[in-house]
Amino acid sequence: MAKRGRSVERSATYTASPNIALVKYWGMRDVALGLPWNSSLSVTLAGIATTTTVRFVPGQTLDTLVLNHRPATGPPLEAVRRFLDRVRGAAELREGADVASFNNFPTASGLASSASGFAALAGAASAAAGLRPSPRDLSRLARFGSGSATRSIFGGFVEWRAGVRVDGKDSYARPLFAEEHWPELVDLVCLLRNAPEKAVRSAEAMQGSVATSPRFAARQAAVPSRLRRMVRAIRDRDAGALFPLVMEECDDFRAVCETTIPSLDYLTPVSRAVLAEVRAANDERGATIAAYTHDAGAHVHVFTLREHAPMLQRRLRRIAGVDQVRSLRPGSGGHMVRGPAR
Ligand code: DP6
Repeated sequence: MAKRGRSVERSATYTASPNIALVKYWGMRDVALGLPWNSSLSVTLAGIATTTTVRFVPGQTLDTLVLNHRPATGPPLEAVRRFLDRVRGAAELREGADVASFNNFPTASGLASSASGFAALAGAASAAAGLRPSPRDLSRLARFGSGSATRSIFGGFVEWRAGVRVDGKDSYARPLFAEEHWPELVDLVCLLRNAPEKAVRSAEAMQGSVATSPRFAARQAAVPSRLRRMVRAIRDRDAGALFPLVMEECDDFRAVCETTIPSLDYLTPVSRAVLAEVRAANDERGATIAAYTHDAGAHVHVFTLREHAPMLQRRLRRIAGVDQVRSLRPGSGGHMVRGPAR
């Protein structure tokens, strides 16, 4: 890979969107390399994004981080530093960097800011360092910041292949279907009022599940066929096939969390009311017209088709404790942008 000239200041800006997993990544087979036990599948979301500028400054030894216009310290800065050290290692660079990152959505809103955040940092830092990684290499790099960031490099429907190699070379994301593939599909994101903030990073919490959940092994056995069936349903734009699988997977993930010792309980009574409303809407129709899913947090994503979205949105908005229901669509993958993050 080409190395950059020494004394020239280099900066680059990259933008990436969060994704929501339909098949969850939950458990690492190698913690140091961030390698997952199972492959996962997600939809990259349109309309929300993290934009990050990285500037390596000649003569500067430390890294700085500005997050949403405010200087950041502590764990967020440490995580960025560790990530930049990896990029510096690959580019044989020594300079410290100024990093500015901006989310056009609330950072702790449960909209997976670590996925878009580390995808954007990977893109900006590697370009600023003069590296020219392929999108696949970028997805390999992003996972060292956050596993879910691996998938935000690509748009539309994305698979992160777990791989089997001990060096992790075959663990990367790949786009399966473009963002335009299924125009009728909508994600109604239910943002809860007063949702508790995540106490423990998922990367840590999931290893508790690997070590203690009696359901972890059964989940591993079930995921590959579930993922294959989901890919077929997405290929065929078959909501009647996809939606039950999305809920089955979410329930399986939640069962693993809840049987972890100590138990991981991410939902609130309001989240559970959203799940119940989706089940009720499906029962009333006598067909699966909507599917809920959630990550390691209290907010709930409800997938449906455009024709049912207004009715569902009205029902979900009426639930006490639901602050907003945002309608999001599949969106594009990460890309370079001109000018600094604002
Ligand atoms: C439940 O890789 O996002 O969202 O950055 O440590 O929070 P942290 O972990 P991350 O964990 C993802 C867990 C998940 C499922 C998924 O997105 O596949």
